[in-house]
Amino acid sequence: MKTSALLFPALVTAVQDVFPHIKSEAFDNGDFGAYPNRTYITEPTSISPRLNILQSDLRCDDGLYTMISLRGDKVELKGQSPMVFDGKGDLIWMNATYGETFGLGVQKYKGQDYLTFWQGDDSVGGHGEGYYYLLDSSYREAYKLSAGNGMPGDLHEFHISTDGTALLTQYLLEEAEFGGVGPRSRKGYIWDSVIQEVDLETNKVLFEWHASEHFKIDESDFPSGSTGRNKKSGYDFFHINSIDKDHLGNYLISSRYYQSITYINCSSGDILWTLGGRHNSFKDLSDGNATKFGWQHDARWTSDHSGITLFDNGARYGLKPHVDHSRGLHIALDLDAMTAELKHSYINPKGVISASQGSLQILPSGNVLMGFGYNAAWTEFTAEGVPLCDVHVGSQKTFNTGAVQTYKVLKHAWTGLPTTKPKIQFLDGDIYMSWNGATEVANWAIQSSNDGGVEVHSLIDVELVPKTGFETKASLHCRRWKYVRAVAVDAKGQQLGASEMVETNCETSEEQALLQLRLDREQRIRWMLQVIIFVGCGVGICSLWRWRIRRRTYSAIQQKLWA
Ligand SMILES: *[C@@H]1O[C@H](CO)[C@@H](O)[C@H](O)[C@H]1NC(C)=O
Ligand SMILES: *[C@@H]1O[C@H](CO)[C@@H](O)[C@H](O)[C@H]1NC(C)=O
Ligand SMILES: *[C@@H]1O[C@H](CO)[C@@H](O)[C@H](O)[C@H]1NC(C)=O
Ligand SMILES: *[C@@H]1O[C@H](CO)[C@@H](O)[C@H](O)[C@H]1NC(C)=O
Repeated sequence: MKTSALLFPALVTAVQDVFPHIKSEAFDNGDFGAYPNRTYITEPTSISPRLNILQSDLRCDDGLYTMISLRGDKVELKGQSPMVFDGKGDLIWMNATYGETFGLGVQKYKGQDYLTFWQGDDSVGGHGEGYYYLLDSSYREAYKLSAGNGMPGDLHEFHISTDGTALLTQYLLEEAEFGGVGPRSRKGYIWDSVIQEVDLETNKVLFEWHASEHFKIDESDFPSGSTGRNKKSGYDFFHINSIDKDHLGNYLISSRYYQSITYINCSSGDILWTLGGRHNSFKDLSDGNATKFGWQHDARWTSDHSGITLFDNGARYGLKPHVDHSRGLHIALDLDAMTAELKHSYINPKGVISASQGSLQILPSGNVLMGFGYNAAWTEFTAEGVPLCDVHVGSQKTFNTGAVQTYKVLKHAWTGLPTTKPKIQFLDGDIYMSWNGATEVANWAIQSSNDGGVEVHSLIDVELVPKTGFETKASLHCRRWKYVRAVAVDAKGQQLGASEMVETNCETSEEQALLQLRLDREQRIRWMLQVIIFVGCGVGICSLWRWRIRRRTYSAIQQKLWA
């Protein structure tokens, strides 16, 4: 159905977004708090960040959506949520009932795009125990997946392979021999790092690999400290945080505490080679710049299998970093000559260093997107490493405190067609409209029905208002329109969904109400005066006329008398 011609364009006007994004030093000084945020009239449960866009460039404008999983010590629980933003930084979707989530992105499964993320308890000794979600384009839970055999899965990785299987990480508490020789050897408990490849439909485990069977526990770069002595605190010696699978079927995994990337044979589980760390297999053609990374995350093959990208944290908690900033790395590998060469590196303009988390994604445009994990910030670079766009979610003053965090920041194409109805709300004589998750809305058509009916035949098109953000505000002559609804319209004029028909509640603030009262009184007085004048004049004219008639009659009588 097309929206027909508009009858009363003058009665509604679009109002500029009251929360412009801030390009501000005040933001980063913490003047608006650690986590500057905003609320919405139509969606009281949605609290989303006011982003500080420090740098922007048309080359970042690729029509993709930015996806984060927001959490942190200074983000109240009711505001923690997976979130989708458009290219302008406006919220598109969030659902805080999920609370703390990790790794929101879009992945393809059986030809369909799904929003995917992990949700659960992330306070289990540096990893998590929870479930993996696949939401369809209507935000319905199409799959809620556990690790193999119904066990909870870890938060670090949930990757759907091109074979349609799920690659996920698991941390298992196991008894282990801690290595060392003679009296130094001891038995203890470890959090073993496990790779699982799982069938999404049956939850059957297709492949499983345990780090403790291939790595010597005492070669970890992470000291055990007081952990590992009993079942209550396993020693997290390996700390797996990413898995990729290539066209040969083999696995590429990242170990934070061995500070290395390992390539694993998918049939035998044997280590084929290692990049970085103590057992580095490669000759570094870049003086150590291609192999000396530290505490890294998110190791992926490039699409042409010619190299690897990763987020080099260069730091971890409780350790004085030996670098000035975290880096994104694009490392070219020659697997015949076994050489590694730094192709490009990506450094945040403010030199952000993140002691945990982080992501690096090569975008379809060739640009590189980095999320800074422990510090909720992201930067988009050209392939060569020139920063184009730079965004802070939390204030820089509170960086490195865990105030605002987002494990990964990813950009993806996404079409959201929610099954819910658009929301509509009135406040101070204005109308507010939104539709959580809807990506295709270009305009809001305000329709009215003065008889209170919701029958389509009785609808009047009042105005077409361009969508100005998550929530569009317009002023409406609500005394004239008794009942209205908001219809979401796409760029081609197709109607996508309509809100309920609601009574225009011209609820006003006290000040406005008083003003209205005064205006009403003045109006009444003016009207009464007019009546008085009208009636008065009427009476006047009438009496003059009657007087003239009387006079005429009188003179006639007189004339007769005198005649
Ligand atoms: C939003 O900011 C206010 C003011 O700084 C803060 O009190 C509140 O906790 C923040 N909201 C969330 C969800 O964290
Ligand atoms: C938010 O997520 C919950 C499940 O956690 C779901 O029941 C609810 O329908 C979702 N809300 C929206 C608006 O999608
Ligand atoms: C992987 O392991 C299988 C089975 O042991 C073996 O046949 C194959 O040659 C190995 N692949 C590589 C690349 O070493
Ligand atoms: C390695 O990195 C350092 C520091 O960024 C730089 O000065 C040096 O030129 C790099 N060396 C090579 C061979 O890339």
